[in-house]
Amino acid sequence: MRMPYPWGLVELKGLVLAGGEGTRLRPFTLSAPKHLIPLLGKAMIEYPIQHLVEAGIRDIGIVVGYLGHLIEEYLGDGSRCGARLTYVRQERRLGIAHAIHLAIESSFLDRPFVVYLGDNILAHGIESVVKRFQEEQPDVYIMLCRVRDTSRFGVAVLRDGRVVKLVEKPKEPISDLAVIGIYFFRDPDLVKKAFSTLKPSWRGEYEITELIQWFIDHGYKVMYDVVTGWWKDVGTPEGLLEAMYLLLDEASPRIEGDVRGEVLGRVIVEKGAVVEGRVYGPAYIGRDVVVGKRAVIEHYVSAERGTKIVSGSLTRSLILNDAEIDLNRLRLVDSVIGRYSVIRCSKEIHGEIKLAVSDYSRVEL
Ligand code: DAU
Repeated sequence: MRMPYPWGLVELKGLVLAGGEGTRLRPFTLSAPKHLIPLLGKAMIEYPIQHLVEAGIRDIGIVVGYLGHLIEEYLGDGSRCGARLTYVRQERRLGIAHAIHLAIESSFLDRPFVVYLGDNILAHGIESVVKRFQEEQPDVYIMLCRVRDTSRFGVAVLRDGRVVKLVEKPKEPISDLAVIGIYFFRDPDLVKKAFSTLKPSWRGEYEITELIQWFIDHGYKVMYDVVTGWWKDVGTPEGLLEAMYLLLDEASPRIEGDVRGEVLGRVIVEKGAVVEGRVYGPAYIGRDVVVGKRAVIEHYVSAERGTKIVSGSLTRSLILNDAEIDLNRLRLVDSVIGRYSVIRCSKEIHGEIKLAVSDYSRVEL
């Protein structure tokens, strides 16, 4: 029988990590951190925050670094999301374990807590997991997901139903269970003790896998669950598109804008949007978006706030805020178009184009 928390069953604290540079998401991260890239009208970082708030966790720390002031400006004190936010600055990107340690040192993490990586999205949130953590009170609780290619993740090796080893980005396949970027810890003092034994890894980071390995090696209770729904680590432009598809698959249709053209299937049309052309779901038409008469939005498209789709066909693409697309007879596929960019084709060209265009760019065909 385990001892109950010395502090009783208190509300957990949350910590969302948003300190990385997002190099794999360049060029979209050159002018803003990846955590502010919108997906279906919400910045990526709002999904973890929303999941924490839905699970009853309101005291949330946000670890910021690269272009962190933009995240602070955007989220403010968190009241818009129903949270109370505290910012923790990480001057150098020294790893996930380091970021957690900073939040403990700053006295923000002073009771059981959950860490949610700001670029991870877990389908259906974390309500049931928080409940299980509170009921069973392990020292560490992690979630695992079966993936085909584990070389991009931390992976877990299980034996007799227990986690025995965690390895960060293994070169050889040793397990098909990736460790999801959501970690629960019971005692900040123990985390501090574990951190004091760590050394930077080959990539110069204090690794979360090594931090948790300390708990395994010292006989603490490390519990896990294997998730069955989807989980996405949004690290690349492809990952961004995949996350958008998955979110669209779950979205409930809703028409609040002005539809003068045709809208079919699972489509969200936000307030202030005007649709004069055709939209076939699943698709998201954000606030103040204009879909012109000569535009066709086919499937799996998210046109974020303020975009103008004048003409052309769009499919499986993410159009970021205030971009303008005027493609005539061309078809845009598998593309991400940055904020305030203009993509124009004035000729009568038929065919498909695939683009990854950064913010404030101009492409004329
Ligand atoms: O997505 C799950 C994976 O996340 C886990 O399987 C790995 O074990 C874990 O190390 C992590 O791997 P990544 O290499 O994908 O982590 P990344 O560098 O992308 O950082 C994840 C988030 O944490 C991201 O939102 C940025 C933030 N971060 C990262 C570092 C290294 C910080 O705030 N500070 C940091 O020092």
